[in-house]
Amino acid sequence: MDARLNLPAAGLDRSLDLRAEIDRLRKERNAVILAHYYQKPEIQDLADFVGDSLDLSKKAQATDADVIAFCGVRFMAETAKILSPEKIVVLPDMDAGCSLEDSCPPDEFAAFRAKHPNHIALTYINCSTEVKALSDIIVTSSSAEKILSQLPADQKVIFGPDRNLGGYLVRKTGREMLLWPGVCIVHEAFSETELMKLKAQHPGAPVVAHPECPPVILDHADYIGSTSGILAYAKDFPGDTLIVATEPHIIHQMEKALPTKQFIGAPGADGNCNCNICPYMALNTLEKLYLALRDLTPRIEIEEGLRLRAKKSLDAMLAMASGTVGMGDLGPAPVTGD
Ligand code: 13P
Ligand code: SF4
Repeated sequence: MDARLNLPAAGLDRSLDLRAEIDRLRKERNAVILAHYYQKPEIQDLADFVGDSLDLSKKAQATDADVIAFCGVRFMAETAKILSPEKIVVLPDMDAGCSLEDSCPPDEFAAFRAKHPNHIALTYINCSTEVKALSDIIVTSSSAEKILSQLPADQKVIFGPDRNLGGYLVRKTGREMLLWPGVCIVHEAFSETELMKLKAQHPGAPVVAHPECPPVILDHADYIGSTSGILAYAKDFPGDTLIVATEPHIIHQMEKALPTKQFIGAPGADGNCNCNICPYMALNTLEKLYLALRDLTPRIEIEEGLRLRAKKSLDAMLAMASGTVGMGDLGPAPVTGD
């Protein structure tokens, strides 16, 4: 039996073949299992789809499954439910939150918007359903730049909740935006000093970084992009060694695709901590996935009026990311007076 599985601790019989049971339940329930790149390898390996936030949002919408088992964090599973209200959406551990979501309470965000009524709210998908409902257009790290480039040049913009992604977009596009001061605790934990030491040990190895990293890390990056962008870069780069400044579970996909190359996770502050592992993503386990499929709980439920308001800003992203609609087609932002 796999030593990492802890069946008795989850109240399960030691003899249970968890992977076979998950497979059986997946068929019985007509379920699709989605996994973000930051999930543990054993979860990535049995998922029907592994992807980034935008990709998983689209997959969730396109599937004809009755049940979506979302191995990721709560805002991702809520996104799936917003797009597929007729489906049962389960999240193996309901405590799988996100520091960016926590940094942006809806009442404070509403008050901030009210102070800046001539700004539209372009909001990173890593936020609550309530904040999505208060926003005009949602973006992911892979769609943000494309969507920003479609906004009229004189349109004022609030960007939240990630000040690092927002700051990166401001520097890259030269477009001023009002930034909400949230951060991802995982990407904030990378240490510039430790990264410099690692680069010295591996001269010539490129550094790839997620835009949730602070500017001191991004300044050393040879490529900056979403998880899927980073993965595509890794699959194409001609060298032998790559330094990866994002949540290290993504390295599993790199190693599967390129087993002869070396992928090194960028270190956190003391060079040897686990602080670059997302503690929220890590809450999901095979045991909890099995229980979620067996019992169809914990389940994501969203009040219909709230869902429809949040869906508007998500639909705007999906349309603009696929190039089927321009900003002008989206209607006016919900301006409340300056
Ligand atoms: P992407 O997969 O969209 O790049 O997002 C990274 C992330 O932090 C998800 O929580
Ligand atoms: Fe949130 Fe950061 Fe974890 Fe992604 S990696 S879920 S942004 S805390």
